[in-house]
Order: sequence, then C-alpha cells, then structure tokens
Amino acid sequence: MTLKKNFFVTTMLASAATAVSFLSAGAAQAQGALVMYCGVQEEWCRAMTTAFERETGIKVSMTRKSSGEIYAQVKAEAANPRADIWWGGTGDPHMQAAEENLTVDYKSPKLAELQDWAVRQWEQSKNKTVGIYSGALGFGYNTELIKSKGIEPKCWADLLDPKLKDEVQVADPNSSGTSYTLLATIIQLMGEDKGFEYLKALHKNINQYTKSGAAPAKAMALGETTVGIAFMHDIVTMVVDKAPVKVVAPCEGTGYEIGSMSIIKGAKNMDSAKKFYDWALTPDAQKLGAEAKSYQVPSNKNTPVPPQAPKLSEIKLINFDFAKYGSSDERKRLLSKWDNEVKNLPK
Ligand code: F6P
Repeated sequence: MTLKKNFFVTTMLASAATAVSFLSAGAAQAQGALVMYCGVQEEWCRAMTTAFERETGIKVSMTRKSSGEIYAQVKAEAANPRADIWWGGTGDPHMQAAEENLTVDYKSPKLAELQDWAVRQWEQSKNKTVGIYSGALGFGYNTELIKSKGIEPKCWADLLDPKLKDEVQVADPNSSGTSYTLLATIIQLMGEDKGFEYLKALHKNINQYTKSGAAPAKAMALGETTVGIAFMHDIVTMVVDKAPVKVVAPCEGTGYEIGSMSIIKGAKNMDSAKKFYDWALTPDAQKLGAEAKSYQVPSNKNTPVPPQAPKLSEIKLINFDFAKYGSSDERKRLLSKWDNEVKNLPK
C-alpha cells in the first residue's frame, strides 16, 4: 500500500469509528435509563433488572429495600425524585403514597389480563398502583429447635405460650410491609383493643424486630430463632432449600398482601417507567419470580402459578380491607400506636 493510499484508509476508518461512536451515543440516549426501587427479594430484583435491560436496552439502576423504607425514601425525595418506578413490596405504602400524590395514575394495556384483586388495588388507589402478586401471611418454626419446647404452634394464640419466650422473630412494621400486614391482620381478626393486647403479649416472646420482613424466615432456617412470622411464600423458599422448617397457616385465619407497583410522580425517565410497568405485568416477566425462588401468586391470569406457592384457596383468609389499612391517616396512626404501646415495652 502506498503512503497516500494508507493515509486514505486510515482517515476513512477514523471517520467511520467517529460515526459509530456518535451512533451508539444516540442509540444509548434513545434506549434511555430507569431508576427502580425494588421491594422483593434481592434475587428477584436482580432477575427483573437483567431481563428488562436485555429486552429493551434500557439501563436499570436498582436499589432494594423494604416496603416502608421505600415509601419513606420516595416521600423524602418528592421535591426532586430520584426513582422512576417502585416495583414490589406490600400494597399499603403504595396506597399511602397514592393518596399523598407521590405517584401518578397510569392505565396499562395489560390491565385486562390481571386478576380481580390486582385491578381492585388499581381502582382503590385512583389508578395509581396496581397488584403484581399476592401471598398470605403466616409463621413457621424450625422443626429441630421446637422439639425442646414441647409445643407445635398452629394458631396465632399459640405464639403467646411462655415456652416461646424470646423464641419468636418478626420485622418492625415501620420498615416492613410484612409486619404491617401482621398488625392490620391481628386488628381485623380480634378488634383494635384485643389486637393490641395480643401484640403486647407477643412482644414478651419476640427476640428481635428485624428491618426486612423475610429476615425471620432466613433466621429460622439458620436455627437463629425457633419461630418466624413472615409471608408463607418466604418460608416456603427455605423449605425448598431443604431447611428444617415447617410452614403454618394460622388456625384463626390470616391476612394477605397485594404486592404492588407504582410510577413515581416527577419521574425523570417517564417513558422507561411506563415501558417497565407494562412489561412487568406480562407472563414472561412474572415467571421470573418462581425462577428466583419467590413463590407468590402472580397477578396476570396467564402467568403459571408456581406449584410451590401456598394455595390461597385452601387458607382461611380474612376479608382484608386494603383501602382502610392503606390509607395515610390509618397507617400513620397504627404505626405510631405500635411504637408507643408495643415496641418499647419492657419485657
Ligand atoms: O419478596 C418477599 C416479600 O415477602 C414480598 O412478598 C413482600 O411484598 C415483601 O417481601 C415485603 O417485604 P418487607 O416486609 O421487608 O417490606
């Protein structure tokens, strides 16, 4: 190759490279970004992030936290929102955020494919949050550790047995939607006065109020607590991993959650948020839950229900009032009452 020809080829290659880098910068811009606050287990959050990025080319920045913690963060950032989409966690703080105008209404074309309970959540929140999965609250026990206690708890009432002193673990309802579901469940089962009496008596047997709702299930599997109160699907994950744990649907009946999704008001990546919202309601996206060992009941009627998921039709479920217990005043009132009357009680 002559010097002249060589110069020509080099110049051409250089301009081609510049064009490609311009192109890819443009493409990256077109593909966009998404900031997600994720309220389920880390493995499932990561699976959703990776699959959505692969599907759309949109780069996702994901942070995982418990339900009440995400709500607090979204509220604190309201003047300059950092997140675009809040995916997962119990429905109560999503409902509260909807009422407080922290999230926006959106009607997904996928709405028609959803179970009635998922659509009801959307309607009750004035179209600002939608159901993505459901699951019942319960408790479990470590089958090795329980032997020395001489009881086999089957009912909420059994958890007050003095033989279980310092042997029961549950999360703090301020951070955890699981634990707020317990608070609302006990009140709906027993009435508010008797319900708080129950929670005060239970306090004597609590060894730790954890931040995350699924932590007691993990602690039970590791033999760090005899009993753990959690969503039944989170305890099933431990059983699937062969931990010596038994799952209990309490005999008196129990509450359940509608895991929810909302778009943040003032989202900087609104188009990406809507794209994620629609995609997260498809069977292909919802199937990722069971693959990540999360055994909730999915909200799209066409998503297969994982065989491991506790069968909601076989559990005595209360008629949970999601609108009341998700309302801003009620949620604030009950959490501060729990802080004042239960959390700091001497044992
Ligand atoms: O992913 C597990 C799970 O139990 C969800 O079903 C639920 O919405 C969420 O965690 C509740 O977590 P937390 O109690 O930590 O808010």
